[in-house]
Amino acid sequence: MTRGRFLSIEGGEGAGKSTQVRRLAETLRARGVEVITTREPGGSDGAEAIRELLMTGAVGRWSAHTEALLFAAARADHVEKVIQPAIGVGTWVISDRYVDSSRAYQGVAGGIDDAAVMALHGFGSRGLLPDRTLVLEVPPEIGAGRASVRDGAAADRFAARERTFHDDVASAFRRFATAEPERVRLIDASAAADAVAEAVLVEIADLLP
Ligand code: TYD
Repeated sequence: MTRGRFLSIEGGEGAGKSTQVRRLAETLRARGVEVITTREPGGSDGAEAIRELLMTGAVGRWSAHTEALLFAAARADHVEKVIQPAIGVGTWVISDRYVDSSRAYQGVAGGIDDAAVMALHGFGSRGLLPDRTLVLEVPPEIGAGRASVRDGAAADRFAARERTFHDDVASAFRRFATAEPERVRLIDASAAADAVAEAVLVEIADLLP
């Protein structure tokens, strides 16, 4: 049996990731592909419990190091319980965020070495990387505006951070795309959802059955 493909969708707040995850899943299903959609932090029972710890409370609740460990622990459970079993039986997995979020948020913006983030990933999740990672890019002011319309006063510990933090996250994703052009692709997500969905398909065309 062929292994299912593993795709991750990344980007800052309000980039439209969840819409694109849903649309991509629909398109793949229409082509006869078995697909599950999932998200991080979370995606498995254990990881959803850790998500609660990560997303609620004061911005300074966790140190950068503790936070990196919690994200890595959540991911380890998600990979073991959901992602590996699915791809092992030929099901495709689309995850709303994955390890590149840890590299961007805890790593570049949070001040932790990329090598350290990847070492945690190696230990927790055996270093599993997506077959393709799609980074949805929107200008930070548009993303912040969309996220605040969506979340209102319910902004989480991350959305509440300074503008410079979100700028660092955005430039981190761009750097990952430059460093790993085969795996990581940038997509202009300021366009209408239909156009973004088309661009996503172009970037995974070589993986499609
Ligand atoms: P979430 O509510 O899922 O919303 P969105 O993906 O639309 O922003 O928020 C998840 C937050 O957690 C987001 O601000 C990014 C952050 N995050 C990290 O800092 N590190 C990680 O490894 C992951 C997966 C997410």
